[in-house]
Amino acid sequence: MSVRPSRKAGQFTESVIREMTRLASLHGAVNLSQGFPDFPAPEEIKQAAQRAVAADINQYAITWGARSLREAIAAQFQRRHGVPVDPERDVVVTCGSTEAMIATLLAILDPGDEAVVFEPFYENYGPDAILSGAVPRYVKLRPPGWRFDEAELARAFGPKTRAIILNTPNNPTGKVFGRVELELIAALCRRHDALAVTDEIYEHILYDGAVHVPMATLPGMAERTVTINGMSKTYSVTGWRVGWAIAPPALTNAIRKVHDFLTVGAAAPLQEAGALALGLPDAYYQGLAEGYRRRRDRLIGILDAAGFRVHKPYGAYYVMTEIDPLGWDDDVAFVRHLVEQVGVAAVPGSSFYADPADGRRQVRFAFCKKDATLDEAERRLTRLRPRSG
Ligand SMILES: Cc1ncc(COP(=O)(O)O)c(C=O)c1O
Repeated sequence: MSVRPSRKAGQFTESVIREMTRLASLHGAVNLSQGFPDFPAPEEIKQAAQRAVAADINQYAITWGARSLREAIAAQFQRRHGVPVDPERDVVVTCGSTEAMIATLLAILDPGDEAVVFEPFYENYGPDAILSGAVPRYVKLRPPGWRFDEAELARAFGPKTRAIILNTPNNPTGKVFGRVELELIAALCRRHDALAVTDEIYEHILYDGAVHVPMATLPGMAERTVTINGMSKTYSVTGWRVGWAIAPPALTNAIRKVHDFLTVGAAAPLQEAGALALGLPDAYYQGLAEGYRRRRDRLIGILDAAGFRVHKPYGAYYVMTEIDPLGWDDDVAFVRHLVEQVGVAAVPGSSFYADPADGRRQVRFAFCKKDATLDEAERRLTRLRPRSG
């Protein structure tokens, strides 16, 4: 018997980010690699989940999502962004936004179709494209400012382009796409009859007056946009695995079918708690953003003092850095040194690029951590010495 992976599975490796979390615990390192909070989730949401389990909401929910959660998702999107969303026809609840993304791509892409992806990109999008058989066309975001070149973007669109994958606010760069940039992207989507798949999971985590503009709010885009979001980041419950996609009915129907056969449905009691969470007052979201602004400034100060060149993020909860001022030009070797010798885990920049060479001098740190964790990281990072020669 020959035991070999499929050609698809053979084309990508395990997640580097999740591997870093394993290494962090092996070496007792402070984990600033994976983007999960190490502080408690909001009390009222935890209690809502406990009540739902006690009330025996313990069987399969409707496969595309409990009605209460779909209604809450639709109401929140409509209230905040002014775009009508029908909870019966436009919403699919999934096992995290991770499943929303792969279910969407499997539902809209055929082998040979092309999907435009900005890079650096959240590492799941690479394997997602491979699994759906699509050919990714990468467009660079370049520091400072992580802007893209308009002509390069236009060249990435062609007759085979079926979709663009967008993530704003962005992991790993902290970029928040501006309205003018989004209008350029939207115009290309309309011209090439392409769909926009937008991962907006950090929509509430914004700094310094940055404004989140959902792609679905631009003229003519609601009918060609799949908006992906979830509970993980907004409510600090990354382990709950509740996410969703909002899309016009023709797309929703296809996504619902794929989702049904991938996972049947997300955890029923946690969906009930999600309905309550989405109704939290505006003060909750303001407190979330303010808490992360404070942590961002703290981590930027720590990394700056340790000798990194820091790219200030305007959204999400990561800091991209450059390691060349420290005398390193190999992100993987540097991160290994950092976890083993310094006791801090981070993510090598190469895991966010199709060609690892493009991220060789970059390393990403997460700051969704409590003060004590950042204090300890600061103490340890004082051990880091620039390499000479
Ligand atoms: C851009 C982005 N999308 C999706 C996810 C995963 O979200 P979920 O927990 O909803 O699957 C992450 C997690 O880090 C992320 O950074």
